[in-house]
Amino acid sequence: MTASEDLFTPIHKALRSMIYNLGGRLQSVDFADKAASAAVLADLEHEFRNAVSATCVLCLLHAHAGSEEAGIFPAMEPIDANMIQMLLEEHQEIRRRLVTLSTMAEELGATELPQRRLEWGIRINREANEFFAFYLAHMNKEEVTIVPAMKEHFTDDQMRAMQAAIIGAMPPERLAGYLRWMLPSLSLGELTGLLTGVKNGAPPALLQMVNGIGSANVDPARWAAVRERVGF
Ligand SMILES: [Fe+2]
Repeated sequence: MTASEDLFTPIHKALRSMIYNLGGRLQSVDFADKAASAAVLADLEHEFRNAVSATCVLCLLHAHAGSEEAGIFPAMEPIDANMIQMLLEEHQEIRRRLVTLSTMAEELGATELPQRRLEWGIRINREANEFFAFYLAHMNKEEVTIVPAMKEHFTDDQMRAMQAAIIGAMPPERLAGYLRWMLPSLSLGELTGLLTGVKNGAPPALLQMVNGIGSANVDPARWAAVRERVGF
């Protein structure tokens, strides 16, 4: 029987929300105003360079590719090496574009002249649009290639074990960073399934952490409905 676990779609919803949100802010911010554009530039930093926070949007987009490579791709490699090769090449392309984008953000951040900052802003928007389009298409591709392949070749228990290993290897601050985006991005049914899994299979401290993030970031009526359905 085909399994039903999907390790990609829920986290991809979080990544799409990050991209939609950052894209919206990028195209409307006044780059001539140094103070007003500081927050959006901070989300374009990269942890390999000078990021002040491990949860900046570009940091989370980058770390996600690493999680897939460490926790999922090795298990799929013997089953479909060509598919994994293709996805790895796209990850490399994502990394190249990410470095370019964060370097440009760094340059803009160090520029004082308003007119120069506006010119950089136009270039950054163009670069970010290309990066977002590539990243979105990459996630779409994963969802129609590796997601069905995994359901075919692994059991739900095996996939849940892979997911637990990925989460276990993650610094808590980064896990919280993903959850802040993911919880408000999921449907009521998905939230109910996720929270049921956390309630039944994870340490109580994790349920407490997820509840804190959910209460602060999910629409209150929706979060109350999830609490009622799951019972916590
Ligand atoms: Fe990926």
